[in-house]
Amino acid sequence: MQAADPLPGVRTTCPYCGTGCGVSVRLSAGTTTVSGDPEHPANHGRLCVKGAALGDTLGPDGRLLYPQIRTRAGAPTRRVDWARALDEVATRFGRVIREHGPDAVAWYVSGQLLTEDYYVANKLVKGYVGTANIDTNSRLCMSSAVAGHKRAFGEDIVPVSYEDLEQADLVVLVGANTAWCHPILYQRIMRARERRPSMRLVVIDPRRTATAESADLHLPVRPGSDVLLFNGLLAHLHATGHTDAGFVGAHTRGARETLAEAHRHAGDPDTVAQGCGLPRDALDTFYRWFARCERSITAFSMGVNQSSAGTDKVNSIINCHLLTGRIHRPGAGPFSITGQPNAMGGREVGGLANMLAAHMEIDNAAHRQIVQRFWDSPQLAERPGLRAVELFEAVAEGRIKAVWVMATNPVVSLPDADMVRKALARCETVVVSDVTHHTDTVPFAHILLPAQAWGEKDGTVTNSERRISRQRPFVAPPGEARPDWWALCEVARRWGHGAHFAYTGAHQIFDEHARLTAFGNHRPQPGVAGPGALRYLNLGGLAGMSQPQYDAMTPVRWPVPATTGDDIPLFFHADGRARLVPTVPRAPVHRTERRYPLVLNTGRVRDQWHTMTRTGLAPQLAAHTGEPFIDLHPDDATHAGLQADDLAEVRSRWGRLVARVRCSGQMRAGEVFVPIHWNAQFASEARVGSLVNPVVDPLSGEPEFKHTPVQVTPVAVAWHGFAFSRRPLDPAALRWWVRVPGTRFQRYELADTAPMTAPGEWARQWLGADAEADWIDYEDAATGVYRAAWWVGDHLEACVFLSPRVDLPARQWLADCFTRDDLGSLSRAALLAGEAPRGEDAGPTVCACFGVGRNTISEAIRSRGLRDPAAVTACLKAGGNCGSCVPEIRALIAAQAPAAVAP
Ligand code: SF4
Ligand code: MOS
Repeated sequence: MQAADPLPGVRTTCPYCGTGCGVSVRLSAGTTTVSGDPEHPANHGRLCVKGAALGDTLGPDGRLLYPQIRTRAGAPTRRVDWARALDEVATRFGRVIREHGPDAVAWYVSGQLLTEDYYVANKLVKGYVGTANIDTNSRLCMSSAVAGHKRAFGEDIVPVSYEDLEQADLVVLVGANTAWCHPILYQRIMRARERRPSMRLVVIDPRRTATAESADLHLPVRPGSDVLLFNGLLAHLHATGHTDAGFVGAHTRGARETLAEAHRHAGDPDTVAQGCGLPRDALDTFYRWFARCERSITAFSMGVNQSSAGTDKVNSIINCHLLTGRIHRPGAGPFSITGQPNAMGGREVGGLANMLAAHMEIDNAAHRQIVQRFWDSPQLAERPGLRAVELFEAVAEGRIKAVWVMATNPVVSLPDADMVRKALARCETVVVSDVTHHTDTVPFAHILLPAQAWGEKDGTVTNSERRISRQRPFVAPPGEARPDWWALCEVARRWGHGAHFAYTGAHQIFDEHARLTAFGNHRPQPGVAGPGALRYLNLGGLAGMSQPQYDAMTPVRWPVPATTGDDIPLFFHADGRARLVPTVPRAPVHRTERRYPLVLNTGRVRDQWHTMTRTGLAPQLAAHTGEPFIDLHPDDATHAGLQADDLAEVRSRWGRLVARVRCSGQMRAGEVFVPIHWNAQFASEARVGSLVNPVVDPLSGEPEFKHTPVQVTPVAVAWHGFAFSRRPLDPAALRWWVRVPGTRFQRYELADTAPMTAPGEWARQWLGADAEADWIDYEDAATGVYRAAWWVGDHLEACVFLSPRVDLPARQWLADCFTRDDLGSLSRAALLAGEAPRGEDAGPTVCACFGVGRNTISEAIRSRGLRDPAAVTACLKAGGNCGSCVPEIRALIAAQAPAAVAP
């Protein structure tokens, strides 16, 4: 008999980065198989390791299943039904609004929400509560791009597609570690360059990232010098005759003033090179390549946006494209790459506190009229609301008395995150909608609402290239998890607005959103009733879909107008012209000083996502980088008295963290990098947000995540250690710990300032091994080394290794021992020695897709004489799936045969 065919796959969209890959999910016999959707135009069937591991994140672990209420801070929560929880939300918010006005309440939402949830939240808050105090975590990542687009184009428009990237002759990546943060997009660029070797890749980043490793040219600019660099480019393009005078004359304004400013401060390449901290010849090469390539794309991300001058940086980039007319042409344009799965969808429905809906703006009377009419809104907000950082400052000051947080974790992700924690702790009413109990924000909630997770919720998202894709459910939500839009509508109903929030499904909400994008979307016309405002965002052609049509909707790039009545201009200022915007370089607000001599930069690692609430559930994703770290230039490490693997403290005026030191070789002197992901669920003190200065860009409100003055000092501890355990342990009593999820175990990295006096007793007790346990240990009182292992039959239940020194045995081989069934043959003494039998230690994971370790790769390179990453892939598979580890494989080859590596 043949096995039954698997059920037909459900097509949906990856919930992580803004690449927006299509995913196909098959469920059969209790297993979930996740693969790339070959027909999705973003990824053509490929997935990076995060997307490929989605199946491992779907379990019931930690899910929030029922609404809960906490009567006072610190009290335990108790389960209530939805009706009771929503009554409580409506009553508490209602009371504050009645007594203190609508500006005393706020919503803080997220680029993880689907467009439909976002639409309803924004409609309720701006149209019916009558405040614009709804902001989104997208404020933290691309609001500078939004502000730059609006200044230049008159609307928040991303004028480039992924296909353009493949057609470009020059791709410039600025402040974007694409190889790690948008792996599939990066692969598309790399493949295009393989097919067309004349294509060039320039990477502009203070760090020598994995992305920079693959570039034809890497410019390690001094942090904050981007405006100078691009104004220098603008002056160069102008001086060398690359102005597209026809385009500039017909489609832009502001060229004269912008050029004058650029020539004034950036006309001399030596000054620019010096200001940017770059060798003159590298700068010249970049300018020459850019000048020469008509098809050039400048793609940028958080490294540009997350700055107190973020909007100016964006406009300095756009200026170069406008001057040369390299925009709205194939293979050319400025390209903001968004971080989140639905950052773009949130922008479309007005998730930012200064936006209205459908790309209309609060401080535009005609826009307000259009939206108010369409919503039949009783009290539309009339001025912009508070932006993320200000919003939590207002909570801290008691001006905002009730806040509803949806699908985000501000206690981890905002700058000055300890301030956010204090703000929530003193707030009268905090509502949190989430899928999990285990976030640093949940403990502050008075009312907890169980949200639906990826795979349960239903709606749409928009990726970086403006492509709308469906997220479709493929499993039933557990417990009482409900859609976020539903919870919002229920509160609206309790406030008497039920008729305007009577949706029965995401389909109806999408339809209303699509109709609003088309409503009044024409040039103002005398004699035509109703106000008009022409916008590029137009989904009129998607309005009126039936439920089955919505369910079957295939990925589509907007605009999708119903008719092509209006001739659509290139730009959306009232005169249809774009603006070149004069920009003047501005140093970051907080400078280094004696006490804080180094600059902290923050960012992502390859295999984690945001605050790890989902990726932290997949052991495969902890294999590459399991712990937080402090990356330093070797000279700065030496100067601070630190070596790799030592514990160090990073401290700023705002906060502190402790992690191990690494010297990756990627850092400029004077700079420190710490990843953003780790938080109290995974480590004792690794929330980098607590250190980040809360200064924001005046135009965009985006915080300066890439530039906080800090000091780095050694942390003296009495001992270091680690433990593996099949059962979860509680490390909270120790001074420092990190939990690393593994396959069939949790690993704990440990350290403490108090000397370990009776390690055997402590270890048995902590691990939970009773007197009968099959326990072997080894203690060397002279050196302070202690090691123990606990066996249950033929398998290892737990082990612990302690030492006053940091050079403990490598972890990978021990981790592998927990998944092996043949441990019987292994001598217990060998295990305690912590040394793998020859050839058995794969080393730290390089390729997470296929689980291939560094030692395995290096050995194959050596013994088989492999000379390029493709040969390594042919032999070990490593690098053959998502390709994110190819730069590391290349580095391993180079380490053995420096001259032999092909670029
Ligand atoms: Fe998801 Fe990876 Fe695609 Fe981003 S690149 S959407 S994380 S599969
Ligand atoms: Mo942003 S992380 O693109 O919301």
